[in-house]
Amino acid sequence: MSSNKTHHGPVCLSGRGVTKVYGFGSRKTVAVDHVDFDFYEGEIVSIVGESGSGKTTLAKMLLGLTSVTEGQIYYQGKPRDIRTRKKKKEYWTNVQAIFQDPFSSFNVFSKIDTVLLDCINMRGGRHLPRDKKIELMTEACSFVNLKFEELTNKYPFELSGGQMQRLMIARIFLLKPKVLLADEPTSMIDACSRATILDMLMNLRKETGMTIIFITHDIGLAYYVSDSVYIMEQGKIVEYGSADEVILNPKTYNTKRLISDVPKIYEVWDLSTV
Ligand SMILES: Nc1ncnc2c1ncn2[C@@H]1O[C@H](COP(=O)(O)OP(=O)(O)OP(=O)(O)O)[C@@H](O)[C@H]1O
Ligand SMILES: [Mg+2]
Repeated sequence: MSSNKTHHGPVCLSGRGVTKVYGFGSRKTVAVDHVDFDFYEGEIVSIVGESGSGKTTLAKMLLGLTSVTEGQIYYQGKPRDIRTRKKKKEYWTNVQAIFQDPFSSFNVFSKIDTVLLDCINMRGGRHLPRDKKIELMTEACSFVNLKFEELTNKYPFELSGGQMQRLMIARIFLLKPKVLLADEPTSMIDACSRATILDMLMNLRKETGMTIIFITHDIGLAYYVSDSVYIMEQGKIVEYGSADEVILNPKTYNTKRLISDVPKIYEVWDLSTV
């Protein structure tokens, strides 16, 4: 695939002809239809499309949570292999996700310190002394403006929606995956925490160089946060390129319509209005 977008590094995650078909016969849905993509190391990519266009299905395939009906996903240049439990676990230390509903992402019976300790253990820190582990957890919490001392012995369901979102980012801070998939991480929280969380994700990219794949309906948001943009429509990628190319110079009717829903797209984004 060729494109004149600016690259940050080598290709990290890519796909050729990636397809997902749910059901059979008259109940068949082609949720993702032969899509090609190249996500580069350290870039923020947005996948934008209307409800039902196949965004979450693509994210689930990228994560290995659902099978790929046809086509191939490549991780760091090689066909992705997650056929064994061990390989899948290894893949998941590198490719992590934040979901629409943070409550579904945690084991509700684990206390917050356990949630964070698990991340340290997954990153090979199992044998670190206890005070070092506490230092790491405290650092991760302060990165997202949470106080670790106030969280110990609490359960995830005792947090507010915004605190929960930030706890998810603290986990990512500890796990330091190569790729982070964020499926509409901002939809359930207020505008103020939304801006803060976007800022945290962008800082995370700056600090760790991780690739962030953002899934959203909001093309204005996509323009604000991303280097590259992919537009999905009925399971297909209908347009892609740098955020400027796609959003300031849209080629398809669908993209033009998505943009016309955002009156202030051409103005400089002011975080206070996100
Ligand atoms: N488990 C499933 N079984 C059958 N069909 C499914 C399943 N999951 C999704 N679909 C169908 O696949 C299509 C794409 O759904 P998907 O959830 O990927 O859309 P989306 O772009 O994430 O939408 P939204 O913006 O509303 O989250 C839809 O037609 C949906 O009904
Ligand atoms: Mg979705």
